[in-house]
Amino acid sequence: MLLDGKYVSEKLKEEITAEAAAVLATTGRQPHLAAILVGHDGGSETYVASKMKNCEKVGFKSTLVRYDESVSETELLAKIEEINRDPYVDGLIVQLPLPKHIDPEKVTATIDHHKDVDGFHPVNLGRMMRNLPCFIPATPYGILLLLEEYKIETSGKHCVVVGRSNIVGSPMSILMARNAYPGNCTVTLTHSRTKNLDDVVRSADIIIAAIGKKNFITAGMVKEGAVVIDVGINRETSAATKSGYKLYGDVDFEAVAPKCAYITPVPGGVGLMTIIGLLKNTLASAKKEIY
Ligand code: GUN
Repeated sequence: MLLDGKYVSEKLKEEITAEAAAVLATTGRQPHLAAILVGHDGGSETYVASKMKNCEKVGFKSTLVRYDESVSETELLAKIEEINRDPYVDGLIVQLPLPKHIDPEKVTATIDHHKDVDGFHPVNLGRMMRNLPCFIPATPYGILLLLEEYKIETSGKHCVVVGRSNIVGSPMSILMARNAYPGNCTVTLTHSRTKNLDDVVRSADIIIAAIGKKNFITAGMVKEGAVVIDVGINRETSAATKSGYKLYGDVDFEAVAPKCAYITPVPGGVGLMTIIGLLKNTLASAKKEIY
């Protein structure tokens, strides 16, 4: 069965739209997301444009601040501090990756954690570890919402996360092990140094593939009846498509799909849910539900 990110994200956007209208009615303000984009990375341009467009769709205000990739770290940090102080901004994200001369750790830690709707700030990550109210990173949050929507049983299952990035793999492993639903899994976090990766993945009831390599997860690595979540968005140039590129997941979908109970497609799966995670965090900030 397909875990249909398109269907679920459209349904959740309707709910978010209604809640944004209620915020406007009670406070006189729309939820407001500000994004900072440095440089012209193709993927980042696409993601930020989609974030802004979706804000508009659900009735949020959005502000995009753009810098050339030559911007200094000092100037960027000063802009973050200015937005931190702006009482009319509920959420602030700085799109990653950043140019080499800018320290992403400094950027992340400078964002006011009360507005950190990406959930990357150490305070939010620490609170997540303790199962306290916090902003959960958008992609892991979107995956939780998808598992919840399809009422997928997670308690006691073996969840294998492939990839230990700060944005997806590491937080996902924490979330799947939490005493919560979705959660209560026995989690294995795998990475480039993992020995016998094929055997480890084959023992998974739930596979979360976030490694950034096209078709990395093959049919031979997947147990019959597993749940497969594909976080990969691997872009390859293609003359055959209107956009000029084609997207591939980290999972060899054609070969894996017949073996598993549930699988997310790429595109149309996790990518769309990431936006929902971000919108829900921004809404929660506007409603002061977390802090
Ligand atoms: N780059 C890739 N994913 C993300 C994300 O979720 N947030 C930000 N800010 N940058 C990203």
